[in-house]
Amino acid sequence: MSLRVAVVGCGTVGSQVVRLLTTSVDDLSARVGDRLELVGVADRRPEAVVAQGVDPALVTEDSEGLVTRADIVVELIGGTEPARGLMLAALGSGASVVTANKALLAADGPTLYDAAAAAGVDLYYEAAVAGAIPVVRVIREGMLGDQVRRVLGIVNGTTNYVLDTMTTDGLDLDRAVKDAQRLGYAEADPTADVEGHDAAAKAALLASMAFHTRVSIDDVSCEGITGITDDDVAWAQRTGHVVKLLAVAERLSGGISVRVHPALVPQTHPLAGVRGAFNAVFIEAEAAGPIMLYGQGAGGVPTASAVVSDIVSAARNRVTGGRGPVESVYAALPVLPPAAAVSRFQVRLDVADRTGVLATVSTVLADAGVSIESVRQSPGGAVGRQAPVDVAHLVITTHEATEAARVATLAALDRLDVVYEVVSVIRVEGDMP
Ligand code: HSE
Repeated sequence: MSLRVAVVGCGTVGSQVVRLLTTSVDDLSARVGDRLELVGVADRRPEAVVAQGVDPALVTEDSEGLVTRADIVVELIGGTEPARGLMLAALGSGASVVTANKALLAADGPTLYDAAAAAGVDLYYEAAVAGAIPVVRVIREGMLGDQVRRVLGIVNGTTNYVLDTMTTDGLDLDRAVKDAQRLGYAEADPTADVEGHDAAAKAALLASMAFHTRVSIDDVSCEGITGITDDDVAWAQRTGHVVKLLAVAERLSGGISVRVHPALVPQTHPLAGVRGAFNAVFIEAEAAGPIMLYGQGAGGVPTASAVVSDIVSAARNRVTGGRGPVESVYAALPVLPPAAAVSRFQVRLDVADRTGVLATVSTVLADAGVSIESVRQSPGGAVGRQAPVDVAHLVITTHEATEAARVATLAALDRLDVVYEVVSVIRVEGDMP
């Protein structure tokens, strides 16, 4: 008897999975303890799959037929349908499923987890979060004896590349995105990456696993990088930070906060050194303290590494008769509303440069219950031709405040006559535990 593996979707990742399964079959089978056999590769463009060198006898357009004649079905189509229907059919027929489909898991994971539980089979998804980095295993298995306090992730390589290029080459956002597209990091339509949707799906999965709580993408407050300017990036450097798009999942009193937004990360924090299109996940746990995982979060070959690891795990479980980790949601912590999130922030203001302005501005923060950590003022020169006024540029960094207090502070600052412009506000994350 051998273990029959079917791959559905043979694009960038699928073709590399097929290659690894073919070239390393002896090693992989030895790790499983039984023979792995690739029994079919389904794709809606079979001729393209054959052109990649895949044995034509394995290639089919009939994914529905394929998924019910395998022991392990690897879903790499992405999107909602037909991926969900195929996975449910596979699970219903008793096959274990391996998928990289973060969007579907973050939107409708419970349907799939429940189907896997009902069938008594595995559903593995290592490649859904941060590509090659084995973060799903680390959180689901390595942290089982601990209490995770916070997870900070750079889980989108495209935006990390864009922000890094803005920092190192001084490019503005548009030019950095075009650069990312030229190099194949960003899609022709970069919306899912730059608006944070891709990171939000991953944040939902990270939070679910870390806090043993069902978190869907609808629970994740999400802000992308489109508001970040080259000026923001330059000021970040001046104040000892770098701008990163972070997925944040943290335990607060009363529940958990799950969000994606740009953040100023201190240059001394390990996440600040994550350059280019690399990903990293920084986990803070009660007993373990900080743990950081770093590696390639995208690309066919690295992502295939995670997929094939899942295939081996699922196959090994079938040989030994056990099951891998199942959905763990016993804690059922409330997901707090965005207004309850807590972080430090840095606000940059153009203000009138005259007596008492700093006092007026600091009173606004005090009234909102926001404590100032530091203020930096630099002359902005004279602005306006008819009646020039002297302008000062203020950079105020605060201690921790709720999102509600931050919003109230910004609204109040905006109403002050002495504030000419609230130039930008960016949260500050990553104080070392
Ligand atoms: N587009 C993603 C990224 C990879 O840039 O990291 C797939 O999730």
